[in-house]
Amino acid sequence: MAEELRITATSKSEKYDQLYPQVQALLEGEKDIIANLANICAALKYGMDFFWVGFYLVKENELVLGPFQGPVACTRIQKGKGVCGSSWLQKQSIIVPDVEKFPGHIACSSLSKSEIVIPVLSATGEVLAVFDVDSDKLDAFDSTDEFHLKKIIELVSL
Ligand code: SME
Repeated sequence: MAEELRITATSKSEKYDQLYPQVQALLEGEKDIIANLANICAALKYGMDFFWVGFYLVKENELVLGPFQGPVACTRIQKGKGVCGSSWLQKQSIIVPDVEKFPGHIACSSLSKSEIVIPVLSATGEVLAVFDVDSDKLDAFDSTDEFHLKKIIELVSL
């Protein structure tokens, strides 16, 4: 039985530093990918107090909603559409300080104000999934988030 997360830090990078070994421990010895992606989402949603955290998995040339934590979300996203589909197409992380200013942004909830999407690549550089984190605050994400979120998703292999 996993223990509860303990985050006492106040700065963002220290919070991530405290969270990382706890996520590592949660994933240790578990090879089921859905279980691990689900726990990553829960650890980040509650550890970092994000609004929405989830994976969209590439299935038959579409992004299909995978494990997530937060309000219900749209289930399918086409390549090039929204922030997630753009991250997939560009094979690059995208940080959106204000979702209303991102052309084509897909609004799953009107409460989401900013977001970061990171593609999950295979060893050969193919996008297997995207990892999407939303905040209910404007301009919540920067390169610190990108660095730490990438490090966390590198703990799993899809
Ligand atoms: N906003 C995303 C869609 C997914 S939700 O935020 C959960 C996008 O524009 O791709």
